[in-house]
Amino acid sequence: MIRSIPTAATWMPTSASRIGLAEECGAGHVLDIGCGTGVFALLLAGRGVGVVGADPAAASIDVAKSKPGSEKVQWVCGDATVLPPLHADLATMTANVAQEIAEPEAWRANLRGAYEALRPGGQLAFETRNPARRAWVSWNREASHKVTEVPGVGTVESWVDLLDVTGALVSFRWNYVFAADGQVLASDSTLRFRERQEVERDLVAHGFVVEDVRDAPDRPGREFVFIASRPASTRRSPRAGRGRSRK
Ligand SMILES: C[S@@+](CC[C@H](N)C(=O)[O-])C[C@H]1O[C@@H](n2cnc3c(N)ncnc32)[C@H](O)[C@@H]1O
Repeated sequence: MIRSIPTAATWMPTSASRIGLAEECGAGHVLDIGCGTGVFALLLAGRGVGVVGADPAAASIDVAKSKPGSEKVQWVCGDATVLPPLHADLATMTANVAQEIAEPEAWRANLRGAYEALRPGGQLAFETRNPARRAWVSWNREASHKVTEVPGVGTVESWVDLLDVTGALVSFRWNYVFAADGQVLASDSTLRFRERQEVERDLVAHGFVVEDVRDAPDRPGREFVFIASRPASTRRSPRAGRGRSRK
């Protein structure tokens, strides 16, 4: 039996604040980069927002496509470098997406792709954990073990083990044990913990204006939520503007 591992949005109580952010931005067209199994994309689409959900994990996109309402979302199997031409009001990266893009070149390509997908004046919003809080300290069985009843699946036991911490890169393994047949699934990930100044510098280097860096409302002090925008118009350099007549 093929089983999908629940993505972060399934157990992180942040959907309301994320929808609030989309509403605050007045977004009619949203690009959800790293949409996973489509939880946030489908919530937005159900509210009449035009949504493109993109994720390089084909299995996650397949799960997203199987959900009710999925026909309202345009699904793309790939990262932000393979998007069709878009004119999005808002691009989002919810949960671990920004941190999962750990390699510097992939991160730069992602920012370039997000910028190109936005209309002038459009916004990019994402969260990333504050490295100073050292979240990985509690990524162990003792602190994370739980037993969940999943409809149609049965009892699922889960916990996380920390595998490695090397500089800004933190590797860990989520373990799942299915009581129905004893199947054990393990999912390894590596996240990059970026400093606030590092993210701001990268955004500016890719043409964004950093509008705000705020707390996640339900996790104060633990994450940075970045709101950046693609400038509404690109200012001409004095040299480029020289010699042109005014209308
Ligand atoms: C923890 S899941 C979050 C899924 C969803 N955003 C949510 O809130 O539930 C992280 C997602 O990032 C995706 N991802 C990893 N590298 C990526 C990349 N370079 N570009 C876009 N998405 C990526 C993974 O495939 C995975 O679906």
